[in-house]
Amino acid sequence: MLIIGVLASGKGSNLQAIIDNIASGKLNARIGCVISDNTDAFALERAKKAQIPAYHIPYKNTLMPECEIEYIECLKKHNVELVCLAGFMRIIKPTLLNAFKNRIINIHPALLPAFPGLHAQKQAYDYGVKVTGATVHFVDEGMDTGRIILQRTVEVKKDDTEETLSERILGVEHQIYSEAIKLFADKQIK
Ligand code: GAR
Repeated sequence: MLIIGVLASGKGSNLQAIIDNIASGKLNARIGCVISDNTDAFALERAKKAQIPAYHIPYKNTLMPECEIEYIECLKKHNVELVCLAGFMRIIKPTLLNAFKNRIINIHPALLPAFPGLHAQKQAYDYGVKVTGATVHFVDEGMDTGRIILQRTVEVKKDDTEETLSERILGVEHQIYSEAIKLFADKQIK
């Protein structure tokens, strides 16, 4: 069974969707550990509630690779095979990328390569696009770049606010992240 590690900085609704999809048998995987760079992240509470080892590991904003060593040690200690970024708001550096080569994926609330970076939903809403969506992709050294694994569209409705649109995108994220992990587990991704 594929062992995944989840990195999250915030509320962790994507983590929760993965936990729920594993519990209901939709996803055949196990979460080895959850790590957050933010001591107050609700994601850590969700992990503890599901009896998943949960850690706060500071991620220093430095170009030095040392700050990722603790992450790597923790992920390896829990035999993690695939690292899933779920609202982890850091740019991954070469140290971690090389330790898990082609084994780090991310979810982003837009149809990449459109609207990378922060507040992607607001960027799309303000631009006036009629269709946006969510993307799961491999992580490389860029910000929200890397080969795309799965995307799904979300229509922008006339009466949408930024909040209602974000909520619908999040619902789609919760579906496609587990689908992408399943593709990886089933060795359907080259
Ligand atoms: C999600 O919308 C995720 O796509 C986004 O952060 C949110 C985390 O929500 N990630 C990015 O914007 C990465 N560039 P969650 O903590 O409830 O899963």
